[in-house]
Amino acid sequence: MSLKEQINFDRLPVHIAIIMDGNGRWALQRGEDRIYGHQKGVEAVRTVIEGATELGIKYITLYAFSTENWNRPWNEVEALMELMVHSLTEETDSLVKNNNILKVMGDIERLSPAVRQSLDETLKRTSVCKGMTLVVALSYSSRWEMVKVVKDIAHKAISGEIDPDNIDYGIIEEHLTTKGIPDPELLVRTSGELRISNFLLWQIAYSELYFTETLWPDFGKEELYKAIIDYQKRERRFGKTSEQVHKNES
Ligand code: IPE
Ligand code: IPE
Ligand code: MG
Repeated sequence: MSLKEQINFDRLPVHIAIIMDGNGRWALQRGEDRIYGHQKGVEAVRTVIEGATELGIKYITLYAFSTENWNRPWNEVEALMELMVHSLTEETDSLVKNNNILKVMGDIERLSPAVRQSLDETLKRTSVCKGMTLVVALSYSSRWEMVKVVKDIAHKAISGEIDPDNIDYGIIEEHLTTKGIPDPELLVRTSGELRISNFLLWQIAYSELYFTETLWPDFGKEELYKAIIDYQKRERRFGKTSEQVHKNES
């Protein structure tokens, strides 16, 4: 049986989040520049978007550039930003063809006008689409997001729009950049690193974590299928006992 045939289509994760890591190592292993790894990484992005769309996944969130990545050597940051503009321009047609809606989350104001302009164009062109939502986390980190949430809620508390005693999970979720998007059931990280690196800390409270040694440029559809199959073998208990979970199923 092929990997794809092993997937239970009745129990697909609605939302998959991916920490796309290992571009630099992939390139260095080949005696190439790190930037070359990032270019190859874009090809993997295209493949995974196509694969997830074919399966009928509803949301995919890709960690493309973290707040901390601004601290990389400036030539790498610049190359990544240029690659972003180039890829958005190149890929918009196929996103529209796949019926993908693009969303961006992160500190967009830190991005250059050129990046923001290409983003705006792709956001606009894909806004009419009805298929899978592709969320790109760009200049994003969870702590940045949480600071923003606290500030926004504090302002509303001062103006009287929110009563501090009524603050609950729902109010916090309404102020997150992921507002309206269900939490990811599955979080994938490539390249063998066993950490979260400031990604979606609130939203992954109950996500199933999947780590693979595969470096991001080598991650393809089969790897995506493997992650989903692994996820489908897990029992998600949300604090309850295994017995309770089975009772609810029957
Ligand atoms: C992930 O690959 C891409 C970004 C963080 C932008 P890396 O560039 O982190 O690759 P490694 O981890 O150095 O191999
Ligand atoms: C996490 O990868 C960020 C992205 C994939 C965009 P990093 O390579 O920046 O993470 P660390 O530094 O190894 O934790
Ligand atoms: Mg890395």
